[in-house]
Order: sequence, then structure tokens, then C-alpha cells
Amino acid sequence: MTDDLSRLKAETEAALAAATDLRAWDAVRVGVLGKNGRLTGLLKELGKLAPDERRERGAALNLLRDALNGAVEARKQALEAAEMEARLGRERMDVTLPPRPRPTGLIHPISRTMEEMAAIFGAMGFGIAEGPDVEDDWRNFGALNIPAHHPARQDMDTFYLPGTDDEGRQRVLRTHTSPVQVRTMLNQPPPIRVIVPGRTYRADHDATHSPMFHQVEGLVIDRDITLGHLKGCLIDFLRAFFGITNLPVRFRSSYFPFTEPSMEVDIGWNRKTGELGGGGDWLEILGSGMVHPKVLANCGIDPREWQGFAFGMGIERVTMLKHGMPDLRPFYESDIRWLRHYGFNPLAPVMLHEGV
Ligand code: PHE
Repeated sequence: MTDDLSRLKAETEAALAAATDLRAWDAVRVGVLGKNGRLTGLLKELGKLAPDERRERGAALNLLRDALNGAVEARKQALEAAEMEARLGRERMDVTLPPRPRPTGLIHPISRTMEEMAAIFGAMGFGIAEGPDVEDDWRNFGALNIPAHHPARQDMDTFYLPGTDDEGRQRVLRTHTSPVQVRTMLNQPPPIRVIVPGRTYRADHDATHSPMFHQVEGLVIDRDITLGHLKGCLIDFLRAFFGITNLPVRFRSSYFPFTEPSMEVDIGWNRKTGELGGGGDWLEILGSGMVHPKVLANCGIDPREWQGFAFGMGIERVTMLKHGMPDLRPFYESDIRWLRHYGFNPLAPVMLHEGV
């Protein structure tokens, strides 16, 4: 290799080594191998040489070109690798840092209670049924053995809607979830095992009553169902729901037109402290009974072959008792401060109390 080629090689290698980023590297590359680069210029001059000289010089230039191409490419790879290293260092993140607090939505206590009930009764083999808020008076009353002029119709403080439905029946806002018993029995053959959570309406408004509130209904229809099944089912449910294994539960004879016999269910508590359990006092919590044979017959079920039990309870009431909430009204006020206090983490699963 002639001196000038050796020099070009040495100078290019030095310039490449001095280029610390891709931009400087590219300037070196263009300066040597580009259209007007030093090596390109030497190659262009070959034509002016005599044939013998040209062959020798050409071979040397080709060797040099291969060597420089290799050096340029190697430097590029080294620079790219260094840049990637630097970026990885810059953009490193500490995955052990705690996350920034982010505001999350909360589950309303009524929704939470419904979820808990669905989980507890679901574990006992119950499905979920639903019906419309706007009912007709046959499903809300008549089919449930509450004939016109029956005093129970007044007790319920019904909201009547103007006009009649397609079947000529008076439209009402349902006063309880019991009409969904009727809908379920008309829609599916027994055996039946459902709960019915939903909104209910009564013309009643004070500190402990809201014109709109929520109930959950239960209905079991099968062969040979007895009062023992009703009691066992409700005792298990109440103990699981309130999370008190030995919660005292009392069944007290009562009256509903659609069950016979009927029973109101009380749980033990302490009237002074409000604490649930064996405080020596009783608190009424739900209504229940064996489905009246007339109701079964009204819904096309033969009462000689099938029996069942039903129950209904207020969701707000059991929610207030479970969580020690003193006032009914905030349930419907959408006050974010109340919800922050009483709302539930949407990611916290509903845990079943042991024994269910
Ligand atoms: N529907 C009744 C009420 O609203 C509760 C109930 C349901 C009672 C089912 C017995 C059986 O008060």
C-alpha cells in the first residue's frame, strides 16, 4: 500500500474512533466513501493512469475500500449499541416504587348487599329472576291472593298509574318484589329456586321510609318442601349475611295473604347499643311463609304435587343494620362524602362466611 493510502486508512480509522455519535460517524463516512469522498476521488483518478499502474493501484484501492467499508460498518454497530445502552439506562424505571394514588369509583352499599345476597343464595343453588318496576294489579295483588278491596291493598300505599295495560289491567308501580314470584311460576315449570332483587315503591316518605326502596324476594318450589326447609335456609342466610355464626333467629307467626302459614323472622340484637347478636332483644327483619295453595293454582302449579316457601326483605334495612348506618335518606342523595365513607372497593371480592 502506498503512503497516501496508508495515511487515508489511518486518518479514517482515527476519525471513526473520534466520532462519538451517529451524526459524526455519518460525516466521516460521507467524507471518505461518499460521492465526493476522498476514496471515491482516488478511484475516479484511476482512469488517468497507464494500464500497468492502474491495475496495481486499482487492486490496492479495492482492498482499501473493503477495509474502510468494514471499519465504517463496525463503528456504526458499536455506536448503535452504545446508544441503546444509554437509552436503557435513561429510561430505566423502578418497578418497586409505590403507585400514585388514583381515585377509584366505589360500589354503593345497596349494590354490595345485592351482590352478597346473590353470592350466599347462589351457593345454596338459587338463581336470580327479575321483573319490571311497572306491574299490573293482577300480578302485584290478585294472583297473590290479595283481591280487590282487601285491606292489604291500602296497607301498601300503592302508586297507581293512569290507564290500563294491553290485558285491560290497572298499572301500578310494584309495591313489593312478590309479583316476580307470579312471573317466575308462570314462566318456568317447577322445581324453582330463585331470588329476586329489585326496586319497589310505596307512597310513604319520612325519616325511615322512602317512596322507592329495594327488596329481595326468595321463592322455592319443589316436591315435599316443608317449613323446616324455610327455617334452615333463612337461618343459614342470616348468619352468613351478618357474619355471626350463632346469631339468634326467631320465627314468629304472622299473616300475609300469599303465604300460609306465614312467619315473620326476628334476629337477636341489643336495643341499646344496636349491636347484633345475643343482646336479649329481638328485631324484625323479614317476612316469609309457605306459598299459599291458591297462589300456586293461580300460577298454573298443582298444589297437591308441589309446595314451596317464599320470603321477602328490605335491602336498605339489612344494609343499615349490618353496617351501623343510622339514616335511610343518604342512600339516595348521591353525596360523594357518604359514599366515600360507606362505599365498597370494587376490587374486593364478596367473601362467603364459612358454614355456607
Ligand atoms: N311481600 C312481602 C312484603 O313486602 C314480604 C313477603 C314476601 C312475605 C314473601 C312473605 C313471603 O312485605
